[in-house]
Amino acid sequence: MQNEIANYSKSEAKRELARLSLLLKRANQAYHRDDDPIISDSEFDKLKALNQEIEKHFPELKRRDSQSQTVGAKPARGFSKIKHSIRMLSLANAFDENDLIEFDIRVKKHLGLPEVHQISYVAEPKIDGLSLSLRYEKGRLIYAVTRGDGEIGEDVTENARTIKSIPEMIESDYDVLEVRGEVYISHEDFLSLNKKQEEKGEKPFANSRNAAAGSLRQLDNEITKHRPLKFFAYAWGEASKALGQTQFAAIAKLNSLGFETNPLTKKTNSIMGLIDHYKLIEQKRNSIGYDIDGVVYKVDDLSLQLRLGFTTSTPRWAIAHKFPAELAWTFLKKIDLQIGRTGALSPVARLEPVTVGGVVVSNATLHNEDYIAGLDSNGGIIRDGKDIREGDWVQVYRAGDVIPKISDVDVSKRIQVSQTFNFPINCPSCNSSTVREENDAVRRCSNFFDCPAQVIEKLKHFVSRRAFDIDGLGEKQIEQFFHYKWISEPSEIFELEENYLQDLLEKDGWGVRSVENLVNSINEKRLISFEKLLFSLGIRHLGEGGSRLLARHYLTWSNFSKAMENISNLESDSWDDLISIDGVGDMLANSLMNTFNSERQKAQIYRLVSKLNIEDQEHRIESDGKFSGKKLVFTGTLEKMSRGEAKMHAERLGAQVAGSVSAKTDLVIFGPGAGSKLKKAEVLGIRAIDEDEWIKLIGTE
Ligand code: IVH
Repeated sequence: MQNEIANYSKSEAKRELARLSLLLKRANQAYHRDDDPIISDSEFDKLKALNQEIEKHFPELKRRDSQSQTVGAKPARGFSKIKHSIRMLSLANAFDENDLIEFDIRVKKHLGLPEVHQISYVAEPKIDGLSLSLRYEKGRLIYAVTRGDGEIGEDVTENARTIKSIPEMIESDYDVLEVRGEVYISHEDFLSLNKKQEEKGEKPFANSRNAAAGSLRQLDNEITKHRPLKFFAYAWGEASKALGQTQFAAIAKLNSLGFETNPLTKKTNSIMGLIDHYKLIEQKRNSIGYDIDGVVYKVDDLSLQLRLGFTTSTPRWAIAHKFPAELAWTFLKKIDLQIGRTGALSPVARLEPVTVGGVVVSNATLHNEDYIAGLDSNGGIIRDGKDIREGDWVQVYRAGDVIPKISDVDVSKRIQVSQTFNFPINCPSCNSSTVREENDAVRRCSNFFDCPAQVIEKLKHFVSRRAFDIDGLGEKQIEQFFHYKWISEPSEIFELEENYLQDLLEKDGWGVRSVENLVNSINEKRLISFEKLLFSLGIRHLGEGGSRLLARHYLTWSNFSKAMENISNLESDSWDDLISIDGVGDMLANSLMNTFNSERQKAQIYRLVSKLNIEDQEHRIESDGKFSGKKLVFTGTLEKMSRGEAKMHAERLGAQVAGSVSAKTDLVIFGPGAGSKLKKAEVLGIRAIDEDEWIKLIGTE
């Protein structure tokens, strides 16, 4: 190459540098901006080396836009992130009238109201778009953020400013007002947008929700500007003063401030009223002009909403009543088994592709062996007891965004020789024996540490988007590195650079740039939040909600690990303390105990932790923090509010609620039937108050 270059004439060199500059720029953009590389890493490296070599021979020809200095530098990509001042939650679902009645009962129970009491609700369509939070300060739009994971979303302000139904300025005397709602595209606009996409030779969108999401998340707001996005306001986040005393009044206020609100919003004070409105909206579904996937019911009185509060991910004061799922018949070609990170053997139906509700479906979950046999998790009969076999005609349905399921089998189409499906007794990955625990429909591979499929799935979970989210280390790379025997547990990801850098550089598909990027993104993630770390560990029953609860309770890894070390010691309070956390049930508590009782599992976790820098959880104390830092214990029966509500108020005001009284307890709240805990408080000289006094203290009367 060097000889050739030395023979270049000046004009040849100049032309070649211009060509390389263009090529490298395009390749960089495709790689970094569009996530869609046009050349391989090694080709890229070769072109870059050639560029550098020519520049070395003809330094006077070096272009101002030369790409030779950009090795490893990663151009800014995507949107910056913004933390929501108040979390953006999702909604719990109701699928039939029964679920709705149960919701109403739960609401009253939580509020300590009799069942005959009638609660006022607001019902409105559930728009199938994507949610957005708009922050106004002194009437001016400051930023617009997508929901993201509910805590942190993407800053799409410049794109939101191009949407006509989002005002830039609102006439208001609110210092801060966060307006929340849904961005969507109407049916008519969706059809013409897709027509344009096709005319331009671009891929049409699968449905209007995808089109809305794809349009709002454009890096170039010139593109968003030409997309027909609209916005309905239906909620709010931070507000420097109240929008009203009821949901209905607050929505009317948003409307008067210049936001579009849904005209099918209705207030009613009976469940029958809600059902009537649901039926009306369902009737109008096809003529309404935009996609809706159900009806949302919200408790109208905002002071009751406040008392009801939230579970880990949804408000207790609202529910989404979903429209029935769409159905389609298709042929079941094969039943495959997948092994999950907890060893669960999950059967999957491979289907002849079929369109269900606008989406092509080719796989459906079959849950477990009982489900295939026609039994539900309690041993009850489903599908009239019809089993599912390879070669069957099956009815597939989708409800919302969930994985497709099978609702029925056409036995009349079954061929004579068809055979019941034999669920394997040994693990299809490692051939170890499988076990089915009592009261568990799931069969699991017993080879927890060494089953290749389990190990790979655990690693995939560890690097997944909601866990460590390591750029450049996706499912494909995890499989590769596992097969090279470079990683078999999470801690080894952080040893890759030390042990296998040279080997990786020699592998096909890896170049200097991609290896450098990978190493950087792994090192970036050595600093991790306590909550994310907990979720990433992949402990059974410990999801994101549970991880958040544990992180908020223990605050630091060191507190948590000490508590876990003590958890099976009957002398210590660790177990009581763990199960006193609102939202932590026996299943999670037992799973944590099993994890920390296993020396091998514990060692894996500690090896990982030794490579990390774990950020402590910020202690979230609400503004008035009346009980901040205080430890409270409830005992006996509360008569005016449920335990759940009482705990929620305590935590809202900064307290920690414990299950047992100790010298560290600050306050005991007792009701009728209080026994040994109240006595212990007396002995220890701890202040004890009854429910009336408690209600006065928290000020909900
Ligand atoms: S209320 C605190 N109202 O549905 C809960 N959500 O499945 C605030 N959605 O994330 C949400 N229409 O994106 C609410 N009328 C409506 C809605 C609505 C659509 C979306 C929203 C939410 C999702 C939950």
